[in-house]
Amino acid sequence: MNTRTAGIAHIALFAALIAVLALPPALPLGPVPITAQTLGVMLAGAVLGPWRGGAAVLLFEVMVAAGLPLLTGGRGGIGAFFGPSGGYLLGWIAGAVVIGLIVHTGANRPTWLRVIVGLIGGGVLVVYLFGIPVQALVTGTTVTEAAVASLVFLPGDALKIAIATLVTLALWKAYPRAFGQL
Ligand code: BTN
Repeated sequence: MNTRTAGIAHIALFAALIAVLALPPALPLGPVPITAQTLGVMLAGAVLGPWRGGAAVLLFEVMVAAGLPLLTGGRGGIGAFFGPSGGYLLGWIAGAVVIGLIVHTGANRPTWLRVIVGLIGGGVLVVYLFGIPVQALVTGTTVTEAAVASLVFLPGDALKIAIATLVTLALWKAYPRAFGQL
């Protein structure tokens, strides 16, 4: 398989991974669910790098926008982007790009610290930066109230960061040359 074909296959694979992670039941503790799908977004950026990782999330979201029921609870359609979690969905694309930029900068295998910084920066800060203001706008609360409400996501997101860090470093160690081509 040449590099371009492998790249397209990786993008499709990670878009499918994000879709499959809709299967564990979401915790609907508020207007925005706690979901395992952010683990797929984190892995897309950290494993594939900024552009292919971002493309994987974009491909997943195009399928959602086209109406496929790939969000938790079997949701899909363009309406998902105009609901309380619409900002988070846009943040997933930017977040995967930022994760990839931080994790993949430099020639060598990243340290666990760089992976964690990338996942916190892209997978939490960037995602929340998009998500919280839109959540506030759609639910009619202040940004501060939406930010406080978003604290409920932090324990789950911390667990996903731990898993994504272990998986990324293990894959990088096992397939160093593959990562060089991503
Ligand atoms: C959707 O299913 O409509 C999108 C869900 C967005 C969930 C956000 S992403 C960051 C934070 N972490 C979670 O587990 N849930 C929220």
